[in-house]
Amino acid sequence: MSHLFDVYPLYDIEPVKAEGCYLWDTKGTQYLDLYGGHAVISVGHCHPYYVDMLSKQLHAINFYSNSVKISLQEELAEKLGELSGYPDYKLFLVNSGAEANENALKLASFHTGRSKVVAFTKAFHGRTAGAVAVTDNPSIVAPVNYNKHVTFLPFNDLDALEDGITDEVCAVIVEGIQGVGGIQVSSDEFLQALRRKCDQTGAVLILDSVQCGYGRTGKFFSHQFSGIHPDLMTMAKGMGNGFPIGGVLISPAFKASYGLLGTTFGGNHMACAAGIAVLDIMKNENLLDNATKIGDYLMAGIKEIGGYKELRGRGLMIGIEYGFPVKDLRNKLLFEHKMFTGVAGANTIRLLPSLALRKEEVDIFLEALRVCLSAELKEVI
Ligand SMILES: Cc1ncc(COP(=O)(O)O)c(C=O)c1O
Repeated sequence: MSHLFDVYPLYDIEPVKAEGCYLWDTKGTQYLDLYGGHAVISVGHCHPYYVDMLSKQLHAINFYSNSVKISLQEELAEKLGELSGYPDYKLFLVNSGAEANENALKLASFHTGRSKVVAFTKAFHGRTAGAVAVTDNPSIVAPVNYNKHVTFLPFNDLDALEDGITDEVCAVIVEGIQGVGGIQVSSDEFLQALRRKCDQTGAVLILDSVQCGYGRTGKFFSHQFSGIHPDLMTMAKGMGNGFPIGGVLISPAFKASYGLLGTTFGGNHMACAAGIAVLDIMKNENLLDNATKIGDYLMAGIKEIGGYKELRGRGLMIGIEYGFPVKDLRNKLLFEHKMFTGVAGANTIRLLPSLALRKEEVDIFLEALRVCLSAELKEVI
């Protein structure tokens, strides 16, 4: 009998080895990974440079608290600023996406002295108190988390912003591309209107980039397609390639003071080593360009196969919505063709592979999709 609190429906597969875009289970079966464990594996499983940096760090020093100098944090902030195109923004380090959003909301409220927050339909921002309160899924919001400060406006609806964002609002939080919501891309016009409205009212614009950031779309942050600059950006997932780390990038307009924010584990030596390794690999291997190139190739292949209702996304963040539940399709891909994919809702396959995915791996996936889909469509008909 398991002694674990049983909240996860599990596949009866245990990966014990991983490399690049592949996993191997206890029986030695190889799986192609097109999901990266919820968009976490950014530079590839067990990348040798990453393994080397973390191993060396573990042997040198793995932890001391934020009461001493940790120059790895400075190095990470500098490299992140450079690669992301936000060199003048400051970095606050945490351990997860929810925690990053929690701190961003808190900062916005401290900064403006206000308490109202605007979020959007189908949003997912995490499961801690503040983050879950701005998440549009009543089934994961406990009574203690319901928050009268939060208003949900319809996603991508420019008209709703006019009356919905007032000068009582401290923060507007939005995903550049909704991930859990089904790979729904915030339109450039929507983000530009949000920026204008926040400027008019003094609200802080938070771009939750936990899933759509860190190079996944071919730009460092997906909102960079729209040309806007948010006040705060939150990140996690791909930031540590599996080592827990998150962060908030903070515009120079925000003033820091001792004690304003804090964490025990955030910015620890191991997390910083992982974060630096990821940025070094992304830069040295041009992974943003690869995400664009391979993402386009993957999208084109999916289009050619067809059979879907809607194809959404950018770069290597792709949602394929079908006119039928995709549970069987996903299971066939996993158990018959040995490849991991994700889902969003009942009808959408979600692809979030490593940014180092290669053409030959895309071809393997496309062939499997073609085979599964022809069987699936026959069954539906
Ligand atoms: C957009 C977004 N924000 C926040 C989170 C929460 O991140 P974490 O699970 O690291 O707390 C997620 C996780 O899926 C996410 O997709």
